[in-house]
Order: sequence, then structure tokens, then C-alpha cells
Amino acid sequence: MDQAETLLRIMKERQTEVNHGSQKGNTGPRIITVSSGKGGVGKTNLSTNLAICLAQMGKEVVVMDADLGLANVNIMLGMIPKYNLYNVLKGQKTISEIITDTPEGIKIIAGASGFSQLADLNHEQKLNFVKDIEKLDFADIVIVDTGAGISDNVLSFIMASNEAIIVTTPEPTAITDAYGIIKTIGSKKKDVDIQLVVNRVQSSFEGKKVAERVIKIASQFLNMNVGNLGFIFEDPVVSKSVIMQRPFYSMDPKSKASRCIKDICLRLEQLDVPQKKKGFAGFINSFFNYYKDQKNTGLDHE
Ligand SMILES: Nc1ncnc2c1ncn2[C@@H]1O[C@H](COP(=O)(O)OP(=O)(O)O)[C@@H](O)[C@H]1O
Ligand SMILES: [Mg+2]
Repeated sequence: MDQAETLLRIMKERQTEVNHGSQKGNTGPRIITVSSGKGGVGKTNLSTNLAICLAQMGKEVVVMDADLGLANVNIMLGMIPKYNLYNVLKGQKTISEIITDTPEGIKIIAGASGFSQLADLNHEQKLNFVKDIEKLDFADIVIVDTGAGISDNVLSFIMASNEAIIVTTPEPTAITDAYGIIKTIGSKKKDVDIQLVVNRVQSSFEGKKVAERVIKIASQFLNMNVGNLGFIFEDPVVSKSVIMQRPFYSMDPKSKASRCIKDICLRLEQLDVPQKKKGFAGFINSFFNYYKDQKNTGLDHE
């Protein structure tokens, strides 16, 4: 039996245990990956504020910082966790030991640049990691905040989840890069549900116009369905909140940006995306497989 088969068997066994033991009758959280083509377009602000909104609606939400270059979810929340994913990968800590409660009612898993070593773990380390990460299955929703661009790891996270939110701004460069990442997702896996968020708009007209443009070209040229999850106004409260290290959705819930987050949150709640419910371990296992495949086929865009 090769490594992949062993992992699969262990996961199947676990899945059965979960199915039998769970009160919820559900085998894991909804996993939503937040990505973009261009950097600095607002992914981390969207991930954290959206998570807080979902938590206020009664959901158990975890934000996982999967940005290998600029891990900063914890900074936006003013937290300095002692340990992060790197320590879990190295077998020094368990997920339960590093998952951090925040005053905002969400839990976070701090990231680290060492996360890029995820795919280089040996078989036993991978097994331990996959087993440990199942502890996240208590969550209703896991938001995976990734880095920008068409790199192997970002793509692998997107493909391992079945919902991806792509963030863009109205800038032509951001739009082109958003189209680029959507195209790459489509060339690999057509059944991932893609939703677009247009950040930093001056008017609702601009938000709708940009979204319609991206959605139309994706449909015409790529034959892909991209959903419109909404827009976020350009609002000084965002940079103010980053400086204060307090998410704007809790700092100023009535602000223009917060009201947009609320709309996005409600729309996301209503989306009827068929869930594979493979659990968080299944998500990480798929990540390993996609990552390995990308490396093997030499599609290294980094
Ligand atoms: N809606 C907005 N209005 C004003 N400034 C924004 C808005 N969204 C993002 N920004 C600015 O862009 C910066 C980068 O946002 P961030 O969420 O860290 O982007 P990413 O995670 O994509 O790199 C923020 O620190 C903030 O200054
Ligand atoms: Mg970020």
C-alpha cells in the first residue's frame, strides 16, 4: 500500500468514526479559501471581518492563516500567539495547543513562513498532521486566508476546498490578475465554486460594473460560472482599524465597509454550495496531493 492509499484508508476509518459519533451528523466544516491574483487587495481584512460577522450569526468560525509570505491574520487582531502552524508541522505542538481564541469570538490558527515546508514532510509527519488537524472539525466554517498569485500552494489550497472567494479591486492590474487566477483554477478543476468580491469601490455602481465585467469574460472565454458575492466600499475605517489592530467590523459596525461585510456574510450564508464534507483532514490531505501533483508536473509558477 502506498502513502496515499494509507492516508486514504486512515481517513475513511476516521470518517466512519465521525459519522457514528457526531451529534451534528456532519463530517466537517465548510471550508472557504480566500485568494486573489494581485497582492494587497484586501484578503486578510475580508477573511477576518467576514469571520466575525459569521460568528455573530452563531457560527463557530476558525480563520487559518495560510499566507506563506505575509502571515498577518494575528496582527490584524492584535494577537501575538506564541506558537503557530510551523510548530504543529514539526510535531512540537498539537493543533489544540496553537488554536487561539480571540476577543472577537472567532478562533485563529497563526501562520508562518515555515508552512511552505508542508509538502516536504515525511510520511509519518504527514499522518500525524492529518490526524491532529481533525480536531478542527468542531467548526462550522473554516476560512483559509491565502497569499496572492498563481503559486503552487495557493492553487493547491483553492483546489482542496470547494469554495473560493477571489478578491479584486477596480484597478485594471488587479482585475487582470483576478481573471488570471480564475482561468488557472478553471484549467485544473472546473467544479470549485468561485465567488468574486470587489474591494475598495467608490460607488455601488462601480462594484457592480467591475463584477459584471469579470463574470462576463469568465463565462464567455472560459465557460466558467463565477458568482457575485458583493463589493466593499473604499473606507478610511479599514486602514484605521489595521493600525489599531482591531477589525473594523467590531470597531465600527455601522461603517460603510462593515455594512458591505454584512451583505457579503448574508449572501454567503444563503449560497447553496454542495458540500463534500470531507472534513478538515480531508482538505489538508487533498492539499498534499494537489501540491505534489503540481510539483511533479513541473507547473511551478513561483
Ligand atoms: N475597503 C478598503 N478601504 C480602504 N483601504 C483598504 C480597504 N481594503 C483594504 N485596504 C487597505 O489595503 C491594505 C491591505 O489589505 P489586506 O487585507 O492586508 O490585503 P491582502 O491580505 O490582500 O494582502 C489594508 O491594510 C488597508 O490599508
Ligand atoms: Mg493578507
